[in-house]
Amino acid sequence: MNKPLLAALKGFRQPVPPIWLMRQAGRYLPEYRALRAEKGGFLALATDPVAAAEVTVQPIRRFGFDGAILFSDILMVPWALGQDLTFGPGEGPRLMPPLVDHALDALVRAPARLDPVYATVARVAAALPPTTTFLGFAGSPWTVATYMVAGQGSKDQSETRAFAYRDPVAFGAIIDKIVATTIDYLARQIEAGVEAVQLFDSWAGSLSPAQFERWVIAPNAAIVAGLRDRCPGACIIGFPKGIGGKLPAYARETGVDAIGLDETVDPAWADAVLPDGMPVQGNLDPLALFAGGAALDDGIDRVLAAFPDRPHVFNLGHGIGQHTPIAHVEQLLARVRGA
Ligand code: CP3
Repeated sequence: MNKPLLAALKGFRQPVPPIWLMRQAGRYLPEYRALRAEKGGFLALATDPVAAAEVTVQPIRRFGFDGAILFSDILMVPWALGQDLTFGPGEGPRLMPPLVDHALDALVRAPARLDPVYATVARVAAALPPTTTFLGFAGSPWTVATYMVAGQGSKDQSETRAFAYRDPVAFGAIIDKIVATTIDYLARQIEAGVEAVQLFDSWAGSLSPAQFERWVIAPNAAIVAGLRDRCPGACIIGFPKGIGGKLPAYARETGVDAIGLDETVDPAWADAVLPDGMPVQGNLDPLALFAGGAALDDGIDRVLAAFPDRPHVFNLGHGIGQHTPIAHVEQLLARVRGA
C-alpha cells in the first residue's frame, strides 16, 4: 500500500506532506458548476451516485490531491432524521421544521435518504487512483444540532445555545440521536469503501467551557468509541473549528487519531501542546489561497515549517472559497510538493 495521506493519518510522517483541501469538490471548479447546473441543484447532485462520484473525483483528476473527500453534506443526517432539507439559490441551507419549536420524536425518520451516499462511496472507491486516500465525513453533533434547532445557519448559534441551557434534557436527546445516527452513517461509509473519516465541528468554538465538555467533547468521544466498536481500526480526524486553547483537551479526551487546525491556531503553539506524534492537519488561511502571490507563498512556508517532527497533512484552516482562482491552487500544490 502506498497511500501517503492514510499513512500520515496513522502516525507515519511523510517526507512530503500529503495534501487535500476542505471543500475541494465545489463551486470554484468550472466542471463542478457545469454538472450542478445540469442536475438542477445541490441535493439533486448529492443524491445521484453517478454525479456525486464524478464530483468527488473531479479535483483528483485536475490537481492530483492525495485525498478525495466524499461529495455530500453534513446536513444529510438531519434529512435522514426526517427534517426537510433545501438549498435555495444564493442562500444557506434550510431545515424544516426547526426543532426549537418542534419535537424530535414527531419527525418521520427517512433512513433510505442516506442510501445514495453509500452507493456513491462504492463508485468512488472503485474509481480512485491507488495512491489516493478516500475520506468520508459527517458533522459533529453540536454543529449539526445548531442547524436542526435553528433550521438554518446563524452567526453565533445563540438560539441553540439558549435552547441547550433552557432544556438540556430535550437538547441531550437531539445530541444522542445524532450520535447514534452518525455512528451508523460513518460505519456504513467505511464498509462501502472510505479509508478514514472526518468529523466537522464548524461551530465548536461558540460554547463556554462546561457546555463544550458536554456538547462537543462527550458526543465526539461517544462517536469515536462507537465507531471503533463497529469498525476496529477506524481512522478518525477531528476538526473542531475555533476552539483555540481547548485543543489539547479535545485531542486527549475525544480519542480522535488526528486533529484539524483552523487558520487562527498558531501552528508552533499547537505543535508544542498537542500529544507527541499526533498527526495534525491544516492550517493555511483560505484567504491567503484566495489572495495568491507572495502572501500565499509566505503562508505556505510558515505552515510547512511549523511541524518539524510530527506527521502533518497539509490543508486549509477551513473550506476553499468559491472565488479562489484555480491557478492559486496549482501554485499551492507546486510549493508544498517542492516542484
Ligand atoms: O469538502 C468537500 O469537498 C466535500 C463536500 C462537503 C460539502 N459540505 C459540500 C457542499 C462537505 C465536507 C461539507 C461540509 C459542511 N456542510 C459543513 C462543515 C464544514 C464547513 O464548511 O464549516 C457545513 C457547516 C455544511 C452546511 C452547508 N452546506 C452550508 C452552510 C452550505 C451553504 C454555504 C455554502 O458554502 O454554499 C452548504 C452547501 C454546500 N455543501 C455546497 C457544497 C459544495 C455548496 C452548494 C452549491 O453548490 O451551491
